[in-house]
Amino acid sequence: MRKVACQNFKGGTAKTTTVISLAHCLTRRGKKVLVVDLDAQGSVGVSLGVEADFTLYDLLIDNHHLSECLVEARPNFFCLLADQSLAACETLLVARPRREEILRRRLAELPEILPDLDVVLIDCSPSLSILSQNALVYADELLIPISMDYLSMVGANHVFDNLGMIEEYFEKKLKIAGVVPTFFDQRVNMSKEVLSALQERYGSLLLPPVRIDTKLKQASSARKTIFEFNEKSRGSQDYLRICEELFP
Ligand SMILES: Nc1ncnc2c1ncn2[C@@H]1O[C@H](COP(=O)(O)OP(=O)(O)OP(=O)(O)O)[C@@H](O)[C@H]1O
Ligand SMILES: [Mg+2]
Repeated sequence: MRKVACQNFKGGTAKTTTVISLAHCLTRRGKKVLVVDLDAQGSVGVSLGVEADFTLYDLLIDNHHLSECLVEARPNFFCLLADQSLAACETLLVARPRREEILRRRLAELPEILPDLDVVLIDCSPSLSILSQNALVYADELLIPISMDYLSMVGANHVFDNLGMIEEYFEKKLKIAGVVPTFFDQRVNMSKEVLSALQERYGSLLLPPVRIDTKLKQASSARKTIFEFNEKSRGSQDYLRICEELFP
């Protein structure tokens, strides 16, 4: 089972879109997937049009059983959802011992509850929070979407700095699954400049770009994944290509 956290401390770099699109693409290729929403914005549930009786807050703070919190949003596409209540987690976790390890402990039973799970994808919030640290302590791999602007590259640098600290303190090594250039627009100079800066910096870690595509926006407002909304869209093609590279 692969455990991949999707992180960039800059907001709006397509973290949630990337997680949902890859997750649905994987299930269409016969895999069983879990998406964990670690962002109090609750975008995963909203984008997929699903709700949960119990959310991550209940799992992490109220000790609800993992099986009560899981929602099957699509066949073989499971979710642990978040809502505003997750914002309170940060304050409540501060006083807890080993607070960065709570997600790992609470998901320890996952292989028994969802046998044959192939991939866990974690959608992180755009901030260096205790929940973001929990994602890194649980995951084995890191996926970093970077939109075509400099602030997004700075946000990614902060992710790498923080990763170093987590690896040192928790004596673990995370693999960089890849860097995804997002919102790529061939007609815009800034896009080309940022892409070549990313090529220089990340080399073989750089995945194919996701082109700008308003259908991705329309899909989430229609509560559909891009593959349900328009299979022939640029968004579908680009995420399929990335999915095939990341999960051959
Ligand atoms: N390639 C794209 N082309 C056009 N719009 C996109 C693309 N990718 C994502 N979007 C849209 O951009 C917005 C931000 O994307 P998303 O919510 O995935 O970013 P995020 O990194 O998760 O944001 P946050 O940091 O707030 O969690 C959404 O409305 C989404 O539909
Ligand atoms: Mg998001």
